[in-house]
Amino acid sequence: MKKRILTGDRPTGKLHIGHYVGSLKNRVEMQNSGDYETFIMIADLQALTDNANDPSIIQESLKEVVLDYLAVGIDPAKSTIFVQSQIPELTELAFYFMNLVTVARLERNPTVKTEIKQKEFGKSIPVGFYTYPISQAADILFCNADLVPVGADQLPMIEQTREIAQSFNSTYGVTFKKPEAVIPEDELCRRLPGIDGGSKMGKSLNNSIYLSDDSQTVRNKVFSMYTDPGHIRVEDPGKIEGNMVFTYLDVFGTDTQKINELKDHYKKGGLGDVACKKYLYEVMEEFLTPIRDRRKQYENNLDYVYEILEQGNKKAKAIAEETLSKVREAIGLNYFDK
Ligand code: TRP
Repeated sequence: MKKRILTGDRPTGKLHIGHYVGSLKNRVEMQNSGDYETFIMIADLQALTDNANDPSIIQESLKEVVLDYLAVGIDPAKSTIFVQSQIPELTELAFYFMNLVTVARLERNPTVKTEIKQKEFGKSIPVGFYTYPISQAADILFCNADLVPVGADQLPMIEQTREIAQSFNSTYGVTFKKPEAVIPEDELCRRLPGIDGGSKMGKSLNNSIYLSDDSQTVRNKVFSMYTDPGHIRVEDPGKIEGNMVFTYLDVFGTDTQKINELKDHYKKGGLGDVACKKYLYEVMEEFLTPIRDRRKQYENNLDYVYEILEQGNKKAKAIAEETLSKVREAIGLNYFDK
C-alpha cells in the first residue's frame, strides 16, 4: 500500500513564495513521485480559532488557497483536496483527544506560545485557539497519515500529534500510526526571510511576494528589497550575507555559475544593486509565470474548482467515518451497534 500524506494550511490569506519553498514544493514533488496518496486539507476551522469574529477572511481566503494549490501544481487527479469544516468527524475525533492532553502540555507547545505573543491575546486566549494542536492531531490521524510535509514551524504540532496517537493507542488499543513531518533540507527554504530582510516572510508583516502577485507588483517588490545598506556607490564593495537579492537568487535561481559571477563582482565592487535586482526580477518571473498561468486557467473555471473540493470532501469523509467507527468502538461507545 502507498504511504499516505496529509497536510494543509489555514486559509487566512494568499500563499506566498515562503510557503512555496517551505512546504508546497515538497508536496508537489511527493505527489508527482507517484509513491504516495496525498490529502491536502484547507483548515478553515483552525483559521476560525483566531478569526471567530471575522469569518469573511476565511471565506475569501479559501478560494485563494485552493487556487494557489492548483497553480503550483497540486493535481486534483493525483491529490485529494478537502475542507476541514465539511468533515464533522474531525471535530468529534478532536473531542476525544482532548481528554488525552493536559493543559500543561498545551502550554508548552512553542508554536502556540509564539502565536499567543504575536497575536497579543494577553489573558484572553480563546479556548479553541489554545487547543488547536489537538484538533490538528485529529486532522492528521483521521486518515492514518504516514507523512506530513509542512513548514518547519509546524514541527511541534507533529510532535504533539505523535504523542496523542501514542496516548490513544496505549489507552484504548492500537488505532493510530505515528506520523513523521517532512520539512525542506535547505535552511533558507525552511525560513525564507521577507523582502525587508528582517524576519521570516509572513502574511501580516507586509514583506511577502505572493504566488498570485502580478508582474508589476513583483517588480516593485524586488526593487524595494533590502540589500547591503553599506553599498552606496556602484564601485563600493558589497556584502552578500543578509542581502535579500542574493538570498533569493540562491533559492530561486537556476544558473549557479552566473549567480556566483554576480556575487564575486558585487563583493569586489563595480556592480550596482539595480543590475542585480533586474536579474532577480527575471528569475522570479521565470518561476512565477507558469504558476500565474495555471492559476488563471482555474480561475476561469471556478465551478470546476468547487467540484474538485466536493469530490475531495466526499473522499475524506468516507475515510473519516470509517476511522471514527473504529475509534468509538475502541473507546467503548458502540452501545447501540448490533
Ligand atoms: N497549522 C497549519 C498552519 O498553520 C495548518 C494545518 C491544520 C495543518 N491542520 C493541519 C498542517 C494538518 C498539516 C497537517 O497553516
